Amino acid sequence: MHFIARYLVVVVGELEYSFHGSLKNLLLTDFTTLDMLRVPGNTMNSDEEVVLVTGASGNVGREVVKALRDSNFRARAALRTLDERGDGPGAFDEVVHFDFGDSSTFPAAFDAVTSLFLLRPPPLSDVDRFIRPVIDYAAAMGVRRIVFLSLQGAGRNLLIPHTRIENIIESSGLPYTFLRSGFFMQNLDTTHREDIVAYDDLFIPAGAGRTAFIDTRDVGEIAARMLTEPGHEGQAYTLTGCEALTYDEVADVMAEILGRPITYSNPSLLTFARRMRGRGHAWGYIGVMIGIYLTTRRGLSEEVSSTAAELLGRPPRTVRQYVADYAAAWQKPDTTGSSA
Ligand SMILES: NC(=O)c1ccc[n+]([C@@H]2O[C@H](COP(=O)([O-])OP(=O)(O)OC[C@H]3O[C@@H](n4cnc5c(N)ncnc54)[C@H](OP(=O)(O)O)[C@@H]3O)[C@@H](O)[C@H]2O)c1
Repeated sequence: MHFIARYLVVVVGELEYSFHGSLKNLLLTDFTTLDMLRVPGNTMNSDEEVVLVTGASGNVGREVVKALRDSNFRARAALRTLDERGDGPGAFDEVVHFDFGDSSTFPAAFDAVTSLFLLRPPPLSDVDRFIRPVIDYAAAMGVRRIVFLSLQGAGRNLLIPHTRIENIIESSGLPYTFLRSGFFMQNLDTTHREDIVAYDDLFIPAGAGRTAFIDTRDVGEIAARMLTEPGHEGQAYTLTGCEALTYDEVADVMAEILGRPITYSNPSLLTFARRMRGRGHAWGYIGVMIGIYLTTRRGLSEEVSSTAAELLGRPPRTVRQYVADYAAAWQKPDTTGSSA
């Protein structure tokens, strides 16, 4: 009973894609205005701007920091753990200790901050406890703009936390931009990497559904522009890649680029759940993944939007480009003991 209740809470609270397909026609921004909104070269003064980037060690946050640095803007990486591993402090020009659950970390993090890149870390589903205080603090500190990493389908889907967060931001009076992103390509080199490396297989229960994947590097680049370029206040942009592929097609692309056969086994939900559980994942996490791939099966992740291309001023990266760039992530470990 406890498990069922927990499963329902997780699926209802966190199921991130479940309703967007049925509402997809209602969710797209009026993109005809985008060209008018873009003011190339008319950015804010980089000397005066301090951008606080939450989730800076994650998929999108690290790309936001990189893109800001490339544009000579001062990015302060908000890190829960200040250590030297991976994308730790060594990878950033400026870091600060920040924890959504510890308001004593807010003053140093927000010192002199002009813009905030906000995301909801996936484990934090209690919006009032973890996210609202940060928004309130940003407003109290006079932050000039907030860019929130939201989810395709947010805004009208009342069941996902992203919608609640968008509502809180709107009520805060802070100038905002919402980035309603589609499914990340980078899930393939994180969540699904182990099966690709060990079994040459996309072990994903997505059926024949298509997904309009987007590369987190593009999301990060767009976010950096929104944080430093005027004219996007009050906008909610749906971001996807330029094509919607089935996982069979993704497997073909990977096989061609990696030079070895890659299958798409399309397991049943039960088989998928069993393997994930065998790897020690929590039932709640497994439930969210099943929910996400159920919606893909139903064709609800296939909507392609032109907004990312319009905001980037170029086509977004394709799955082919992504696989080529990340090929090393799926190489088999060298078991020969050769160090050459
Ligand atoms: N996956 C998709 O396909 C997809 C698509 C659209 C939207 N989204 C949304 O994107 C968001 C996740 O973005 P992501 O994939 O870039 O994140 P991610 O890679 O999962 O990283 C989460 C980040 O949040 C940090 N974090 C976790 N708990 C924290 C805390 N208590 N205080 C401060 N920082 C904390 C993590 O830091 P540590 O390194 O310390 O853990 C990490 O930097 C979610 O809201 C998700 O719904 C995902």
